[in-house]
Amino acid sequence: MMERKFNFSAGPGALPLEVLHEAQEEMLCYKDAAASVMEISHRSPQYTAITNSADSILRELLGIDESWAILYLQGGASLQFYQAPLNFLSGQKCADYLVTGTWAEGAYEQAQMVGDARIAASSVDKNHSYIPPVHTWNISEGSAYLHVTSNNTIYGTQLQNDPTVSVPMICDASSDFLSRPIEMDKYGLMYAGAQKNIGPAGVTVVLVRQDFLARIPSGLPKLLDYRTHAKTLFNTPPVFAVYMVEKVLRWIKGLGGLDQMKLLNDKKAGLLYNKIDRTDFYRGVANTDSRSNMNVTFRLPSEDLENQFVKQAESAGLMSLKGHRSAGGIRASIYNACPVEAVEALVSFMGHFESNNG
Ligand SMILES: Cc1ncc(COP(=O)(O)O)c(C=O)c1O
Repeated sequence: MMERKFNFSAGPGALPLEVLHEAQEEMLCYKDAAASVMEISHRSPQYTAITNSADSILRELLGIDESWAILYLQGGASLQFYQAPLNFLSGQKCADYLVTGTWAEGAYEQAQMVGDARIAASSVDKNHSYIPPVHTWNISEGSAYLHVTSNNTIYGTQLQNDPTVSVPMICDASSDFLSRPIEMDKYGLMYAGAQKNIGPAGVTVVLVRQDFLARIPSGLPKLLDYRTHAKTLFNTPPVFAVYMVEKVLRWIKGLGGLDQMKLLNDKKAGLLYNKIDRTDFYRGVANTDSRSNMNVTFRLPSEDLENQFVKQAESAGLMSLKGHRSAGGIRASIYNACPVEAVEALVSFMGHFESNNG
C-alpha cells in the first residue's frame, strides 16, 4: 500500500487513523448485521444504535440536553445557507449577517432571497484578513438572528470566542466544529458540514434549539422544514457518513473532550504561528488578533517560491498546502485529526525551505 502523507487538506480533511482502521475492520460485516453498514436499513437496530450513540456523545461534549434537536442532513453547509433563513427569516422583519469571508457572503446572499438580510459588519475592506470587533456589529432592531461564520476556512480567521449579542446566533461552524468548547446557549442554530473536523463529506450536523424550532412558520417545503427532521427519521440519512461521524465523536471523547481538543489545537497552531512570526520570510495573512487555529494562512516572498514550497513539501510527505484558489499563498489546515507530529514536520520543513531560499 502507498504510504500515507501528513495531510493538511482544507476539506474533506484528515480523519483519525484509529477511526479509519476501525471502519476498515468493520467494512464487510458490521457487528451482528451480517452485512456492511452501507447495506442495512436505516431503521435497523444497528443503525439506530449508531445515531443514538452519536446524539448522546454530542450532547455530552457540548453540554446540551433534549432542549436541542440534533439532525443529520444532506446538501452540505451550502444548503443551510438557504434552509436557515427559510425557516427563521420567513415572516420576520429582518436578520443580520456578519460577513467575514466567502462562505459568510454566500450565506448572506442566500438569505437575501428569503427576506431582509442585512450586513451587521464586514471585513471585505481588508480582504477578510480580520474579524470586525464585536462592538462595531450593527444588530438591527427586531432582528430575528445574527448569522456568524465561526471560522473562515479560506482566509484563516476565526471568532476568538462565542460573542455576546442581543439576539440568538445562527452559526456556520463547518470548519471549527468541536475544535474547542462552545457556549451553546448563545445560539439558536448551529450547523457544520462534517468533512473538516468530524467525519467524511455527505452529512451536515445541525443543532437546533427546540424553542427556536417553535418560531418556524407553517407552509414550508417539507424537506426544508427543520421540524420534519426533528420529529422523525423522515427519509434515508447519509448512513455511512453518520456512521463515521459517530466514530470521530467517540475518538474526541476518548481524547478527553473539547477542553482537550482546544489544548491540542492551541498547541498545533502555536507551533506554526511561532514559526511564521520568527522570520520575515513567512508572512501571516490574518491579523494576529483574528487568527484561526484551524486554517493557518501565510505567504512567502513570491508566488514562485510559494509554488516551489507546495511542490517540495509534497515530496517531503506534507500534502495539500496550497492556499484556496481565490486567496493564493499557503494554507495549512490543522483540524482535530491532524496530529501534532504533522505540524512539527511542517515547521521543520519550513525551516529547511527558508535556509535554502531565504
Ligand atoms: C465555513 C464553510 N462554510 C461552508 C462551506 C461549504 O460547505 P459544503 O461544501 O458542505 O456545502 C465550507 C466549505 O469549505 C466552509 O469552509
